[in-house]
Order: sequence, then C-alpha cells, then structure tokens
Amino acid sequence: MTSAISVTDLTVIRGRTRILSEFNLEVESGAILGLLGPSGSGKTTIMRSVAGLQRLTGGSIKVLGTLAGDKSLRSRISYSTQDASIYRDLTCSENIDYFAALQGHVSSSTDEILELVDLSRNRKQIAATLSGGERARLALATALVGKPEILILDEPTVGLDPLLRRDLWSLFHRFTDEGKTLLVSSHMMEEADHCDELVLLRDGSILAKGTPRELRTQTGVENMDAVFISLVEKP
Ligand SMILES: Nc1ncnc2c1ncn2[C@@H]1O[C@H](COP(=O)(O)OP(=O)(O)O)[C@@H](O)[C@H]1O
Ligand SMILES: [Mg+2]
Repeated sequence: MTSAISVTDLTVIRGRTRILSEFNLEVESGAILGLLGPSGSGKTTIMRSVAGLQRLTGGSIKVLGTLAGDKSLRSRISYSTQDASIYRDLTCSENIDYFAALQGHVSSSTDEILELVDLSRNRKQIAATLSGGERARLALATALVGKPEILILDEPTVGLDPLLRRDLWSLFHRFTDEGKTLLVSSHMMEEADHCDELVLLRDGSILAKGTPRELRTQTGVENMDAVFISLVEKP
C-alpha cells in the first residue's frame, strides 16, 4: 500500500488542553478514510494538522511524501473547513473563478468542475438562491479548484438530508475512482459504510481502526452506533 497521508505520533496542545497524544494515521492513496467521532473528539485538529495549518507539539506528518505544510503541497491538497464558505452574492461559476484567483490560477476548468458536482445548469445562479444540496456541492466544487490529489473535507455532509448525503458520498467515490485520496470527517456513525477505512475517535484517542466490516467483526454488532458504544464500553 502507498500512503498518501502518514501521521506519526502527532501531539497537539492548544491552550492548556492536550487534544491529541501520539496519534497515528495512514491514509492509503486512492481511498476514502473516514474520521468518525463525536463533537470535540479531535477531527478538525487532525485535519488542520494534515493541511499544515496547526502548530504541532510533537510528531510529524507526511503528505505525498512531503512534510505537511510545505509550499509544494499547496496545489496538491485542498482543505474544506467545517463551515465551508461560499460567496452568497456570486454565481456558481464566479465562486469557482474567485477561489481559483485566490490560489493564483486563472481557472480554465470552471465548467469542468461544475460538471463534476452536477451544477452545470446552475452556473449563472446566485449562490444565495441555491438549495442546501446545491450549496454543499458548490462548497465541494471550490475544493476541486487546481485539481488537488488529496481532499480534506471536514464534516461535508453536516445538515444535509439522507438523500443529499448519499449523493455527496457517491460523488466522493467518483473522485477516488479518478485516483484522488479523501480524508473525510463526520460525527454520524451511519456514514461509516461510505468509507474504505475508518478511524473511530473519542476525546482525541483512537477507539478503533479498520474497514467497516472489520469493526463489525471485532465488536460482534451490526449497527455502527452500536459498534461505537461497544468500543467505548469495552471492559
Ligand atoms: N484553540 C483551542 N484552544 C483550546 N482548545 C481547543 C481549541 N480548539 C479546539 N479545542 C478543543 O480541542 C478538542 C478537539 O476539538 P476539535 O478538533 O475541533 O474536535 P472535533 O472537530 O472532533 O469536534 C475539543 O475539546 C476542543 O474544545
Ligand atoms: Mg470539527
């Protein structure tokens, strides 16, 4: 296996709080790794660290073989924050063009990106008038500017109804079919089955790692909420 992301002994202290202690993670190239855990478990801190935006207390992170935060990675990874911001007063295509300009590209692939997230019909529509699902796809589209190889998506499906969530996950799978690697977080255990690999987190600690099937086998329960509970209550 080739690791696209390799986190070794990551320790992060913010303020006086130790958020992560010697946390380890490997994300296989071309896979979707789900970071699942309740609010406050450390998902965002891990993602910020991988994106090179978090001051590390200890440990190291390699992304595509290069130290996280290195300039050369800027165009190769994208990070969508939890409250991904799109500009409500711009159209869909203007949003993409604007994000491209911020990154120093003149986006010639705006139409291609909108096509990928199924917003071609909406290209001239003002973002404020989009439905929730369309807005989520536009936020995702801004993460595709510059054709990054790795997408880091922090709770991209939060607040969406089950059908829209399913559509978004099928889009994520289309990206991995093209060879991209995805690190995706969620606080909803039911999203586990969309991921190739899972890391279940609680209070900055790894409860378990593995494929959804492996975690079911390990705990002997089927429902992912029950898997999580069983891991927490493990004697
Ligand atoms: N700037 C900060 N200073 C101190 N503690 C923080 C800071 N940011 C986050 N935390 C704490 O770190 C823990 C993990 O937060 P976070 O990574 O945002 O988790 P999640 O994304 O899973 O909700 C939480 O307990 C949170 O309160
Ligand atoms: Mg978070």
